[in-house]
Amino acid sequence: MSTILVTGGTGMLGRPVCDALRGDGHEVRVLSRHSPPYAVDLRESGRLVDRAVDGADAVVHCTNILRGDAKAATNLIDAARRAGVPHLVYISIVGVDRMPYAHLKAKYVVERLIERSGLGWTVLRATQFHELLFKLLEGLARPPVMVLPKGLAFQPLEATEAAARLAELATGPPVGRAEDMGGPEILALAEMARAYLAAARKQRRIVETPLPGRLYRGFRHGAQLAPEFPVGRVTFEEFLTGRFGG
Ligand SMILES: NC(=O)c1ccc[n+]([C@@H]2O[C@H](COP(=O)([O-])OP(=O)(O)OC[C@H]3O[C@@H](n4cnc5c(N)ncnc54)[C@H](OP(=O)(O)O)[C@@H]3O)[C@@H](O)[C@H]2O)c1
Repeated sequence: MSTILVTGGTGMLGRPVCDALRGDGHEVRVLSRHSPPYAVDLRESGRLVDRAVDGADAVVHCTNILRGDAKAATNLIDAARRAGVPHLVYISIVGVDRMPYAHLKAKYVVERLIERSGLGWTVLRATQFHELLFKLLEGLARPPVMVLPKGLAFQPLEATEAAARLAELATGPPVGRAEDMGGPEILALAEMARAYLAAARKQRRIVETPLPGRLYRGFRHGAQLAPEFPVGRVTFEEFLTGRFGG
């Protein structure tokens, strides 16, 4: 049995990581701003971060911080170094090195910090989770006409499958960059929107329109996809069935 700290262990991904680890009999510590006894903002270093990492066999870094990602990672790395933690596992996103989007660029910086930390490290890049794309479609379906950026595709992945992979990686030796993890199929956003509307029993006209900008171009060229790693099994259709009932 190992002791594993999961930062962001209350989130969409972190929670099933904790479940998978506990299911395998490991002792899990959860760090987030609202989860005592390790309720701490990782952007502020301090004794609580030191206490959280002390004696841990591995740390799985699963926070989702829109501003201050690098600061949080630096604080975690410094604490892990002081405590001599042998393995730091980080969840990243497919395309972080190719997308001109601040959040993704920040995650790429964190990857570099972890690689150069001197700690044993593993980085897993995953494609977008079903839940995230579901929320996107839900928002886009609010107006009577569903306006979609033209020509986009995604490779939706079940968060619990990414969580199981992270748990497996955390309990093994550091591997550096693990193979990317993508969902089982690449779907056009319009196709996903039609599946969502059918499952949610909503009727909307779909209009596709091109958008300006480098970020949109990056997405249109598929930087967010991992076609060579369709490792997830749960399809978007199956996710929708689970969500709305058959
Ligand atoms: N969602 C996706 O499609 C996707 C795909 C690939 C990779 N990822 C990556 O997976 C990771 C987790 O994403 P998620 O979707 O599970 O995020 P999420 O549901 O928003 O959960 C974020 C977690 O981080 C904690 N947190 C946020 N700010 C913090 C801070 N300053 N200090 C300490 N804890 C903090 C939150 O708890 P508190 O609010 O209590 O602090 C929560 O536990 C992220 O690194 C994300 O980039 C996500």
